[in-house]
Amino acid sequence: MKLPLNEPIFEIIAQVAEREQVPAFVIGGFVRDILIHRPSNDIDIMVLGKGIDIAMKVAKELGIEHSVTVFKNFGTAMLMHDNWQLEFVGARKESYSRYSRKPIVEEGTLADDQFRRDFTINALAISLNKADYGTLIDPFHGLEDLKKQIIRTPLDPNKTFSDDPLRMMRAIRFATQLKFVIQGETFESIKQNKNRIKIVSSERITDELNKIMMSSEPSVGFKLLNKSGLLEIIFPELYQLKGVEQIDGIGHKDNFYHSLKVLDNISTKTDNLWLRWAALLHDIGKPRTKQFKSGVGWSFHNHDFVGYKMIYGIFRRMRLPMNEKMKFVQKLVQLHMRPVTLVDDKVTDSAVRRLLFDAGNEVEDLMLLAEADITSKNKEKIRKYLGNFQLVREKLKQIEEKDRIRNFQPPIKGEEIIETFNLQPSKVVGDIKTAIKDAILDGVIENTYDDAYQYMLKIGKEKGLKPKNSKNKKG
Ligand code: CTP
Repeated sequence: MKLPLNEPIFEIIAQVAEREQVPAFVIGGFVRDILIHRPSNDIDIMVLGKGIDIAMKVAKELGIEHSVTVFKNFGTAMLMHDNWQLEFVGARKESYSRYSRKPIVEEGTLADDQFRRDFTINALAISLNKADYGTLIDPFHGLEDLKKQIIRTPLDPNKTFSDDPLRMMRAIRFATQLKFVIQGETFESIKQNKNRIKIVSSERITDELNKIMMSSEPSVGFKLLNKSGLLEIIFPELYQLKGVEQIDGIGHKDNFYHSLKVLDNISTKTDNLWLRWAALLHDIGKPRTKQFKSGVGWSFHNHDFVGYKMIYGIFRRMRLPMNEKMKFVQKLVQLHMRPVTLVDDKVTDSAVRRLLFDAGNEVEDLMLLAEADITSKNKEKIRKYLGNFQLVREKLKQIEEKDRIRNFQPPIKGEEIIETFNLQPSKVVGDIKTAIKDAILDGVIENTYDDAYQYMLKIGKEKGLKPKNSKNKKG
């Protein structure tokens, strides 16, 4: 089979390869993606010689020899041209020790190089050589597997996964992204080798998890992680959500499958990875708060707060960013129940103002999460709840337009309270600040400096404090 490689960049590489008498091939993910019409900008070029040398010569041809990035240790070189990111490498043969993902690398043939790859669909190559330019080289029937939508290893899967256990995550990630099936023997081998994942760094595992998270239906990946036994090892908190307990014939919902449904729901509305993480983790505090009370049933009291507290540890272990992204996830998990409390007809303006204040700029995302959290099988119920949330959105909009609470900063700062009453920084300063904030949110006073100042004097007086100025006046 021949493939049309019409982009000028391939012709340039082919000319250099011909001139240097070094056979060259396009290999790996780019070939797979051409065949399934999936957009990709990353091209791997494999040469039967020195990858870095060929990269330098191609770069010279393109007039960009100063912008080649060379990774001497890996024998690879990278260059950017138009929208392409090209990586050049020499064909290699790899073997692995039992304790490390780092291979011992030797020079190899095209076949050696294809043999060492993770899946048949990733082991395809296209020739860039004069004699057979554009010919697909497919020793493991990768094309057939692409057509059948199957993920399968070229070698005995036990060898492929034991050599590089990250490939178990990659198999599940590709199955999720491409909606392919992992072939039976290959999946059985993931089950058998699951404990080998422990030699893989958290960063690499998390990279794959994030790719699963960004797929159109991330639940597919988490279900496979669960089925393979990997989930319990890499993400015990999520694993703990599984299962339905029954007491006196009363069960609760399976919070693992519920969380996955919420994640899928939100993924139809947003590509924000962190909002997707918030959806996955919104009920993570449930196992630790689960209680059964006779005559009442199951409760998960405070699971929002307990869940919020768990996020730091999860992000730290998984090497997820411990910055404003984590704070965003924490905030959404902590607040995820709040929009439901505003559904009631009799809800006060004050409750709406409080949510606007607490959620700030995240209020839209919080509403998306609350809506995604409706996972009833009953279509009528879903319609009704979504309608209720529409009313909540309207209330939020009305109050925001009226009171501008969303990003409000209380008009009196702690320093001014200290200064006014000649205080040391202390608890009473915080109490006065909170009282002013509450008075604004409860609509007792307007959100203005003057009102807040007068209110501060009033509260101070009630606490037996004298403003400095009046002391001065008396003196
Ligand atoms: N590869 C492998 N084992 C790994 C990682 C990569 O065999 N653990 C091989 C595969 O042949 C893969 C190629 O290296 O196609 C390039 O890897 P990478 O860029 O990570 O993946 P892609 O297949 O290109 O897919 P994506 O860009 O979606 O990650």
